[in-house]
Amino acid sequence: MESYSAFAYVYDQLMEDVDYKGWVLYIEEIFERCGIKPKNIAELACGTGNVTNILAKRGYNLIGVDISADMLFIAQEKSRAMGVEVIYLNHDMRELSLPTELDGILCVCDGVNYIADEKDLRKVFKSVYHHLKDGGLFIFDISTYYKLANILGNNTYAENFEEVSYIWENYFEEAQKMCDFDLTIFVKEEDTYRKYEETHSQRAYEEKEILDQLKGIGFKKIECFEAFTFSDPKEESERIYFVCQK
Ligand SMILES: C[S@@+](CC[C@H](N)C(=O)[O-])C[C@H]1O[C@@H](n2cnc3c(N)ncnc32)[C@H](O)[C@@H]1O
Repeated sequence: MESYSAFAYVYDQLMEDVDYKGWVLYIEEIFERCGIKPKNIAELACGTGNVTNILAKRGYNLIGVDISADMLFIAQEKSRAMGVEVIYLNHDMRELSLPTELDGILCVCDGVNYIADEKDLRKVFKSVYHHLKDGGLFIFDISTYYKLANILGNNTYAENFEEVSYIWENYFEEAQKMCDFDLTIFVKEEDTYRKYEETHSQRAYEEKEILDQLKGIGFKKIECFEAFTFSDPKEESERIYFVCQK
């Protein structure tokens, strides 16, 4: 994931249309629905802290974990600007080791899709369970197989802003169930543009594959929803949420 080093600096601009406040409200609705009032929450693959910092502002104690020091650097700058305190840890979630038991663990906006290997995914799920208090919630989403194979995969996107422009060429490999995103980013530096190239890869998981991985871990309740609703996922859902209660 060293590839995030250049991307980190343009990530928020590329995500500017995402309603992170809405995501947080949805997560709070899940807390309420499950009857928990969490205090201590960790967010895995927290990136530039878009969800982390909003939750911290709303009074929760947050630990943000990410493999990219560059993403965390930006997350920290933003938490300072927002006047919130978040513990940011530069960790690989496949080797999770957190200092405390938590009421909630989150992993939103595709974090799980970055875990390409099924054995690693099972390891992440096991250690999340281990870090949760009884009754605690693990909430995560995935970009669906449908979205990676049919919408993002084998497609090219481009956007052109004054400070940054990008071309995003995507390739879906059905045999490996992997979607590779080849990114070319041009960042304005005084009177010139510097070109960065990097590749990101996401694993396409079917809902059932995730449910199979979660089975036997010990969660007493596992639910699955079409993102931002409490309805069952549909064949053409692009993002689905999993809610697992210990
Ligand atoms: C698409 S970004 C999502 C960031 C953030 N959750 C958000 O909502 O904007 C995916 C993040 O996953 C992180 N990541 C990928 N693999 C990881 C791993 N093994 N452990 C921890 N973080 C990881 C990347 O560094 C990146 O910040």
